Amino acid sequence: MTHARITGTGSYLPEEVITNKDLEAFCDTTDEWIRKRTGIEQRHKAASGQGTSDLALHAAQDALADAGMSPEEVELLIVCTVTPDQMFPASANLLQGKLGAVNAASFDINAACSGFMTGLSTADAFIRAGRYKKILLIGAEIQSSRMTWKNRDTAILFGDGAGAVVIEAQETDSGVLTTHLGSDGKNYEILHLPRGGSRDYYTKENFDDDAYTIYMKGPELFKRAVIKFAEVAQEALDATGLTMDDIALFVPHQANARIIEAAGERMGIAPEKVMVNIQHTGNTTAASIPIALHEAKEAGRIKEGDYVMLASFGAGLTWGASIIKW
Ligand code: UT7
Repeated sequence: MTHARITGTGSYLPEEVITNKDLEAFCDTTDEWIRKRTGIEQRHKAASGQGTSDLALHAAQDALADAGMSPEEVELLIVCTVTPDQMFPASANLLQGKLGAVNAASFDINAACSGFMTGLSTADAFIRAGRYKKILLIGAEIQSSRMTWKNRDTAILFGDGAGAVVIEAQETDSGVLTTHLGSDGKNYEILHLPRGGSRDYYTKENFDDDAYTIYMKGPELFKRAVIKFAEVAQEALDATGLTMDDIALFVPHQANARIIEAAGERMGIAPEKVMVNIQHTGNTTAASIPIALHEAKEAGRIKEGDYVMLASFGAGLTWGASIIKW
């Protein structure tokens, strides 16, 4: 049977590091509070002039090298991001040009923290339909461009980075076994960036420092995340007939270490089977799952034949889960 298999992974974190201690200088918070409430110790920040497609380029090259694939072989290139280089064209179009993926169609997916899960589901559907055989899927964000460092609600949480996977059609029983997505647009205001789009655009008169700030009702999101992570994970298990005991590694969206811990408990998965790298990356939105997946693979935490579960929850609201036989 034709399955979508991940044959290469890569990631990129920009050079500049902002520690919690650094943040103490910009906003009313402490290193101790951030560690205790989020598990985060530091996050990376893109250099001025760097765009999301520049971060994506490094991760994409890394993943292609890992898969032994040339840019010309890529048939479809998807970038999942809520922080594109510019309003249009898509960052995927910009990346396609920079990478020299001359034979690839390209588009962006805007599904926030569930961007990568939405991208994986899309890639899987194209492969199952027989439309494409070689797909490059990237999650990339420069969240530092959408927040003010003085706003402690968001400055403590988000980080910049990119993660990439190469996905290939193979005749095998391994690969993406199932994908599940959901959304709740009625509650979009829990986490959103209201300004800068078509409804309320910037003018010289209405622009101020906070105009491009992300708004987040953190605790509200926290409660919903824990419940939805567990629900969508169970959906994926039910679709495959597997149980949580069969899962060798759970790679969740790195929203907050306490959300991951609470969701893991609710799901009934042992903490040692859960990948957590938020301490050094912060929450990188659509990039967090592919970065964590790459780091887990590099650390030898995934073996061939393992069942790996991925899951996300975030702005939209959106959520998703997938089970992959590695
Ligand atoms: O990626 C997907 C989308 N994002 C998420 O899923 C994020 C979900 N939410 C969260 O991660 C957490 O809600 C936050 C990290 C945003 C906040 O943590 P919390 O444990 O929910 O804190 P809280 O907002 O309930 O605030 C607890 C206390 C309050 O003080 P009092 O009233 O107990 O005296 C806040 O004023 O902590 C205070 N506080 C802070 N103190 C220092 C809130 N934010 C901060 C801060 N630094 N940054």
